[in-house]
This record gives sequence, structure tokens and C-alpha cells, in this order.
Amino acid sequence: MPYDEKALIQLAVSARENAYCPYSHFAVGAALLGESGRTYAGANCENAAFGAGVCAERAALAAAVTAGERRFCALVVVSGGEEPASPCGICRQMLSEFGDMEVICASPAGEIAQRERLSALLPHAFLAFEAHCQRGGQ
Ligand code: THU
Repeated sequence: MPYDEKALIQLAVSARENAYCPYSHFAVGAALLGESGRTYAGANCENAAFGAGVCAERAALAAAVTAGERRFCALVVVSGGEEPASPCGICRQMLSEFGDMEVICASPAGEIAQRERLSALLPHAFLAFEAHCQRGGQ
């Protein structure tokens, strides 16, 4: 599906501004494009109980699923640092059930550092319970 890549990047850039990351000081924003054409934003949300924090990608996924979206065409992840971050392993696995989306990693200035299919980032995702998964989501 053709989509407005710049707008999706901008959504992730804006989401990043709301990141709650007082422990790592590493702000991340994410934006998902659903097959419906709707978009969903997320930011990382940390906690003093470190393991309880959630990545921006999974925050966006939870917002999208809550709104009823089940399949995605594209994900943008925006972070700072020398090299914009690529989704962590847990996020790759979580996203895998919801479509083989394009994943774009970009800087806060909107410069694209990486563009890959999710299946290239996680070629052997755990997709047991085939009836539900099939890289599709139900
Ligand atoms: N983080 C994300 O939100 N997404 C990524 O792709 C990588 C890491 C967050 C988790 C934590 O709040 C902070 O970045 C440092 O790891």
C-alpha cells in the first residue's frame, strides 16, 4: 500500500517528544500504519522497577490493537544517538504476528538509517499456534 512516509516519520518524531525515560535518557518514538490506513503512535515508558518499562514499538502496538487494528504495513522508529535504534528482539517478536511490515529506523531529524522488512529483521520468529499467527494476527 503506498503511504505518506514523511507523515509517518513525523508522527514518530512527535511521539518521541513524550517519551518517559528518566532512567536511560534514551527517548524513542514509534508510529505504526495499519492496513485500515489509520496510524498509531507510541513512546517508551520506563519505570523505577526497570523490567516493567515498555518500548515505543510495543506502546504503539498496544494502542493500535486497542483501537481494533490487526495488520500493519509499516513501522517507523525514531531515536537519537549515533545510529538510530532498530527494534529490540522482544518488539520484533511481538510485531511478527501482525504482518510483514516495512520497518524504517530514523533520526529525530527524519533521516532514514535503516529500511527492512520485519521478516528480514526476525527471520525465524516464533509463530506457533499457526491458526492465529501466520504473520497475520486475527
Ligand atoms: N527502547 C525502545 O523504546 N525501542 C527500541 O527499539 C530500543 C529501546 C527503549 C527501552 C528503554 O526505555 C530505552 O529505549 C533504553 O533501552
